[in-house]
Amino acid sequence: MSDNKIESILNEQRSFPPPQEFIDSATIKAADLEALYAKAAADYQGYWGDLARETIHWQKPFNQVLDESSAPNYTWFRGGTLNVSYNCLDIHLESLGDKTAIIFEGEEGDTRSLSYAELTAEVCRFANALKASGMEAGDRIVIYMPMVPEAVIAMQACARIGAIHSVVFGGFSASSLRDRIEDAGARAVITADGGHRGGRVVELKAATDKALAGGCATIEKVFVLKRSGQEINMQEGRDLWWADAVADQSAECQPTFVDSEHPLFLLYTSGSTGKPKGIQHAAAGYLLNAKITNQWVFDLHDDDVFWCTADVGWVTGHSYVAYGPLAVGATIVMYEGAPTYPDGGRFWSICEKHGVTVFYTAPTAIRALMKLGDEIPQSYDLSRIRLLGTVGEPINPEAWMWYRQVIGRDKIPIVDTWWQTETGAIMITPIPGVTATKPGSCTRPLPGIEADIVDENGNSIDSPEAGGYLVIRKPWPSMLRTIWGDNQRYIETYWRKFNNRFYVAGDSAHRDADGFYWIMGRIDDVLNVAGHRLGTMEVESVLVAHERVAEAAVVGRPHDVKGEAICAYVVLKGERPTGAEAEALTSELRNWVGEELAAIAKPDDIRFADNLPKTRSGKIMRRLLRTIARGEQITQDTSTLEDEAILDQLRGDA
Ligand code: PRX
Repeated sequence: MSDNKIESILNEQRSFPPPQEFIDSATIKAADLEALYAKAAADYQGYWGDLARETIHWQKPFNQVLDESSAPNYTWFRGGTLNVSYNCLDIHLESLGDKTAIIFEGEEGDTRSLSYAELTAEVCRFANALKASGMEAGDRIVIYMPMVPEAVIAMQACARIGAIHSVVFGGFSASSLRDRIEDAGARAVITADGGHRGGRVVELKAATDKALAGGCATIEKVFVLKRSGQEINMQEGRDLWWADAVADQSAECQPTFVDSEHPLFLLYTSGSTGKPKGIQHAAAGYLLNAKITNQWVFDLHDDDVFWCTADVGWVTGHSYVAYGPLAVGATIVMYEGAPTYPDGGRFWSICEKHGVTVFYTAPTAIRALMKLGDEIPQSYDLSRIRLLGTVGEPINPEAWMWYRQVIGRDKIPIVDTWWQTETGAIMITPIPGVTATKPGSCTRPLPGIEADIVDENGNSIDSPEAGGYLVIRKPWPSMLRTIWGDNQRYIETYWRKFNNRFYVAGDSAHRDADGFYWIMGRIDDVLNVAGHRLGTMEVESVLVAHERVAEAAVVGRPHDVKGEAICAYVVLKGERPTGAEAEALTSELRNWVGEELAAIAKPDDIRFADNLPKTRSGKIMRRLLRTIARGEQITQDTSTLEDEAILDQLRGDA
């Protein structure tokens, strides 16, 4: 959007205040919220410092709230030491030891639950097993697991010994796994034989073997959980069954207390270039925001059953499955499989069966379930649900209204939460007992989050129609600290645009007359497909790595379920294929992307052309490709094109 203004086209006037019964029992009431805003405005550091003291169990107290001396590499709570796993488990043992921490349901229908005492013992056993294999604080450990309790146990065990985990989503391919292992220099992988997804087994150990066969010299150990039970290879000396590793381990493990800024985890995410970025989070700041947002935004009470449907491979599964809800002592639900397996009622059956009270999912899932009709959810008892949430992509008002009316009995609050892998926790969101929500708006920034919308020159935009860059003006505790191994890229990606003055989120947004934020989408070359972030360059580099491909350009187009679909324009070495040959090559290239990157990255459309539209200086005209992908009329100036005739080929007309 460098040269054109962003215009907002959405004009949504409906507003839904929270129901009185919700207000009456809410953790945060209007007066509390106003007091928090006032305190953050009056004394920013005092506000965060007091929250950190009240919220976290410190082994040693910190002596400085925020250090700005190396901005934009900010640090928080210097001098303090803590352990995140201790803060999620041990602190509850006395009063909540018997309380259920995790209710698990496998795709095949098997269920299991773990109390806080049992979960703590499992975490300790596995932490001791990691130590027995020589793993130490600061080591990077990659977790490549299905959505089973052991995924959370593995994360918590790493945190317990101060090791830095990097969870790789189980849907990523062997080569994506290899890239992440190599970039992090990981010493161990924790995986499973396989997981169940959509009626099939996802062969995680086989993919791990493939990744390690091609490099990953730093890997010494592979821990393998038996989950699916199929035949796998175990490499002598390197591979170790989870059950054997923990067999003789004690159920107690003294936590390793680390500095506030000690990295808790890396999580790789897509950016504008081909190489994913290892987003690095720090122990104390991350824990603080993850914990308070679970209290404030999900209003978690003692008897709540919280189900965040995100996989632990994404940041949502970190902050609202593996860490935040445990830090507040909540009961969570974890489900291994696909939302529509064996049928479209699976999510609702889980809600009914386990008495889910707070349900948090992605707009993509809502749209997919909405398409299946109202009868399915209506045939389940969803009456215990008292709060709904969404995350990951803009939600269209139609899906929002369906969510409210059909799942929310036309009365319960919906929190549309805006945040990112980089922000660590929810940033802009309704407070469910306070905010009158509007369908499609994530409403207002949380107290202490200084969000703004600025124009190309960094000036705040107040006009309700005008969109601009979404920025955060002040550092906040759970912000990313850097990009692993590439601080320069950290500065360039998030700070350079406005001379280090504020954090640039990469989204465009506008603010209405009530000060409510409306996210309009990414402004960089990042796609949001079914709530998953993918860089156009990542898909392009995989395509050009195919032996027949000379050049590729990837853009997004709107999709009614996935939000965005991937369109790839491909120039081959040699002749442009047509008819059956083009069809065969299309499916070959789609599978290639699936294998090299991830199934979610497979392009929906592939179009072959003799050339890509370029300016005379050789830049691919992406805006033009986007217009074509959407099937819209071309209004851009195409006179600078080398060859105007290729437009027909790109449209698929020639
Ligand atoms: O574009 C925004 C979109 O998802 C991006 C962050 O993706 P990721 O790091 O994978 O984290 C997703 C889960 C936090 C953002 O830059 N996004 C996230 N939440 C919303 C959203 N877009 C609109 N509304 C939201 N509530």
